[in-house]
Amino acid sequence: MSLLEARGVTKELAVAGAPPARILDGVSLSVARGEFVAITGPSGSGKSTLLYLLGGLDHPTAGEILLDGRNLAAMDDEALTLLRNEAIGFVYQFHFLLPEFTALENVMMPILAGGRTTRKEAMARARDLLGEVGLADRLDHLPRQLSGGQQQRVSIARALANKPLLLCADEPTGNLDTANTERIVDLLLTLNRTMNQTVLVVTHEGSVADRAGREIRVVDGKVAS
Ligand SMILES: Nc1ncnc2c1ncn2[C@@H]1O[C@H](COP(=O)(O)OP(=O)(O)OP(=O)(O)O)[C@@H](O)[C@H]1O
Ligand SMILES: [Mg+2]
Repeated sequence: MSLLEARGVTKELAVAGAPPARILDGVSLSVARGEFVAITGPSGSGKSTLLYLLGGLDHPTAGEILLDGRNLAAMDDEALTLLRNEAIGFVYQFHFLLPEFTALENVMMPILAGGRTTRKEAMARARDLLGEVGLADRLDHLPRQLSGGQQQRVSIARALANKPLLLCADEPTGNLDTANTERIVDLLLTLNRTMNQTVLVVTHEGSVADRAGREIRVVDGKVAS
């Protein structure tokens, strides 16, 4: 069975004084556990919209999105938030780390939000995760004391905090230079290979897509190939 399956996913947005705009039009796709998939396509084609729907950040207008057999499209906001916290990790183009908290605290937060671990356990796990992304010596740094590439690695550690079934990333290297882009892609590939982490990454960069196991191309709100 697929880990993630989208069936006929459509997204329309209301436009004042005009018919609704159809951003996604009947998208169907499936992703197996342990796959590394790149979502590519022209600017404005609907990649981010698709990723947000697949990652439970938004509701489709029509269609089904099954994650591990559970239909995200049928969940209310509360159920979706719970599912997201336990099963989905997100990395964005901008890191969205909390500026007044250290790297360690930023990674601890989603672990503590689950309410099932002590502070000590959360700290140990956050420390391990930051070690895995190569930041063992930056635990107590604030986001502004880290480079762009390091900030993005903290974001990845944070996204992995609750061992998500699915790791989603929207242009995670969009703000980075070539060397840091390579490092982030290496890291995502390593997580995929060593932890069998399923990864879904939206990217403009051919170099990222080339290294993914599979590419899903979105054009005009439809899966083109
Ligand atoms: N909240 C919104 N209100 C109105 N239109 C929107 C909204 N969000 C997205 N759109 C429109 O939906 C289309 C798809 O947007 P989306 O952000 O998914 O594209 P994208 O493929 O991620 O583009 P990019 O590569 O530039 O990030 C665009 O035409 C965009 O203008
Ligand atoms: Mg986008």
